Amino acid sequence: MDALTALRLQMEWGADEALADAPLDRLARAAPERELRAPSVAPEARAATQREAPTPEAVAAKPRAPTPAPAVVPMPAQRAQDIAAAANTVAELRAALLAFDGCALKDTATNLVFADGNPDADLMLVGEGPGAEDDRAGKPFVGVSGQFLDRMLASIGLTRADYLITNLIPWRPPGNRNPTDQEVLICLPFLLRHIALVKPKRLVLLGGISAKAVLGGKSGITRMRGKWVDAHIPGLADPVPALPVLHPAYLLRSPGAKREAWADWLLLQRTINAGLG
Ligand code: URA
Repeated sequence: MDALTALRLQMEWGADEALADAPLDRLARAAPERELRAPSVAPEARAATQREAPTPEAVAAKPRAPTPAPAVVPMPAQRAQDIAAAANTVAELRAALLAFDGCALKDTATNLVFADGNPDADLMLVGEGPGAEDDRAGKPFVGVSGQFLDRMLASIGLTRADYLITNLIPWRPPGNRNPTDQEVLICLPFLLRHIALVKPKRLVLLGGISAKAVLGGKSGITRMRGKWVDAHIPGLADPVPALPVLHPAYLLRSPGAKREAWADWLLLQRTINAGLG
């Protein structure tokens, strides 16, 4: 099989990212590089040091330059929290995400996928993370599952002018894999800050990953869905009622579950008709 045929075959199998098989631990790579750099003394200087080794008395007598404090680089999740908390507007938060380098997903994504819809709406929807088309467009939920979501919401009279929609993870996980726990930890502070700045009256959490990240707990989405629960968002005095629902991509794979989804959308519609608050 020639190289081009092999490549086409891989693309048909869904390999749309040029990534190594084994995960790359960038921190582990960085350390030896630093260690190699630090002792790099020019050979002449090293020879001179060896020739003229100072006596212990000379070392004790010589005033020492103060040792610089080692740079403490906070863990990415802590850094994410600090950076997100410092954003005072949604525009600042978006700019902070654009500048943030603590999540490796950014390296493989084409675009930051921040939000779409009405930033002043009382209703905020939170998905999991962008797919391939969302990544290309830089907008959440524009792919197949997004179009399906639009149709479900249209059936209860909602368009994107009626809500703001965002994701837990703002960069596409390669190959549409689920985000790792570490990626969720890093991205969650930005989502929580986004919610605190928008101050929606109600939240809809699309799928188990975003529901668990925002609400905590160990239950799966099939147990969580279908009822309003309080989401405690740092920076907001009052909890925000949140409705966990089945993710549209799951519904496309499991059409038998559309019955439950329909019940959840009707609950949302009744709540909106009663005045959301
Ligand atoms: N597209 C998104 O933006 N989010 C999802 O959770 C799924 C598809």
